[in-house]
Amino acid sequence: MEPYETILAAAPKMEPARQQYFMEQLKELVAEKSQEYGRPLTACIQTFGCQMNAKDSEKLLGILIQAGFTASEEEASDFVLYNTCTVRDNANQRVYGRLGYLNRLKQKNPRMTIALCGCMMQEPSVVEKIRKSYRFVDLIFGTHNIFRLAELLFLCYIRNDMIVDIWDGTEQIVENLPARRKYPFKSGVNIMYGCNNFCSYCIVPYVRGRERSRSPQDILSEIRALVADGVVEVMLLGQNVNSYGKTLDTPMTFAELLSQVAEISGLERIRFMTSHPKDLSDELIEVMRDCQKICRHLHLPLQSGSSRILKQMNRVYTKEQYLELAKKIKTEIPDLSLTTDIIVGFPGETEEDFEETLDVVRQVRYDSAFTFLYSKRTGTPAASMAEQVPESVVKPRFDRLLKEVQRISSEVCGKDVGKTMTALIEGVDSHDPALVTGRLSNNLMVHVPGNASDVGTLIPVTLTESKGFYYMGKKLP
Ligand code: SAH
Ligand code: SF4
Ligand code: F3S
Repeated sequence: MEPYETILAAAPKMEPARQQYFMEQLKELVAEKSQEYGRPLTACIQTFGCQMNAKDSEKLLGILIQAGFTASEEEASDFVLYNTCTVRDNANQRVYGRLGYLNRLKQKNPRMTIALCGCMMQEPSVVEKIRKSYRFVDLIFGTHNIFRLAELLFLCYIRNDMIVDIWDGTEQIVENLPARRKYPFKSGVNIMYGCNNFCSYCIVPYVRGRERSRSPQDILSEIRALVADGVVEVMLLGQNVNSYGKTLDTPMTFAELLSQVAEISGLERIRFMTSHPKDLSDELIEVMRDCQKICRHLHLPLQSGSSRILKQMNRVYTKEQYLELAKKIKTEIPDLSLTTDIIVGFPGETEEDFEETLDVVRQVRYDSAFTFLYSKRTGTPAASMAEQVPESVVKPRFDRLLKEVQRISSEVCGKDVGKTMTALIEGVDSHDPALVTGRLSNNLMVHVPGNASDVGTLIPVTLTESKGFYYMGKKLP
């Protein structure tokens, strides 16, 4: 191989050419190492957090595979990458816990390379802690520069020192790099990055940066290529998809984008995540109602049912406005399943505020709800609010809410027993190999007798029994 300085100096300046170049260079290094070890080099990515991180991990794995690594589920791999989340403190604690385990693995195999990326790494205090107390980590990068993995890993191999590359933000969206999908038949598709909403409890805008929309041409051509490669269902991803397109040179609405995506032939199903109630338009409701390809599911985070707390949260809607919106959606699209996120114990939450949340849950009757204990995130406005609610008060509220949510969802889930609906079969059941697991348009799961050849197909299924939050069913004769 040429001297490393020559290799670095010859790298193209523009992306994605630069990363293509480093993937080739890394490939040579990987081949050399693999010859030395007498076996292929393995790479394992562990993903924490949301769908955006899952999608980022598919891109990261695509780069590693192109550079000659063999994908592995085993953390005892030659290269291990944790793609981290920091939305709540327990996500961080899980990463620190697992790092202890990785350290022991590395003591047994000193040739192992350990890397951390994702949202947690955008917090300076985290990087400081890792530099100080987790010296065995080899590479740290953030959310804005994942496309540079090949270059960073190349540097890491030749420099033999901890490499840290964190960007504060970026305007850049680098297209046309490889990705390795987890599922052959469905895929997430980024339509925008970042968030401008600054809900007062939330760290995402600080770690994911300002909102940027991808161009509709890039989105549509990615989806067309996915469909040509066997994908039948896409999930359009953004922290607030309803504000898609506002900053494009030629602005367009999310509803317009959805209509264009729906025209792609061969694409059977479209989902999206997440919708902020404050800017969910009538136009979007109409497009959803009129287009059967768009799945009968809307995730509409409530966060709190108290208008007073919503104001403190900077959510920009009231309890009444949310209820109005939920009612309008249900009236227009009666078979739509509504799900939500709720935070319990936001600073200053009183018993009366909490009762308002329970009231919304009872009125809307969500198909399911993710419930979270409020977690204080340093640097967010809510973290310095005076009245933090003690855990002894929050925990019983959380348990009451969870019980109510579960009671209602088991009732709601039962309502379609006897009906025949289309399911996309996603895999063989992990507990019973005689069953396969499918997803209905409304996002509920159904287990039906079947085998591996059903995976990736859309089939009509009769729902025979409700199990509370999923169904048992059978194929049509
Ligand atoms: N952009 C999405 C949510 C992303 S975070 C949206 O606005 O809906 C996913 C969920 O985590 C949020 O909906 C919220 O319920 C929860 N969450 C975010 N910050 C939190 C915090 N500090 N404590 C507890 N839950 C939080
Ligand atoms: Fe966080 Fe609010 Fe942005 Fe969602 S919309 S990511 S909750 S700041
Ligand atoms: Fe977590 Fe980052 Fe998603 S903080 S929830 S992985 S955007």
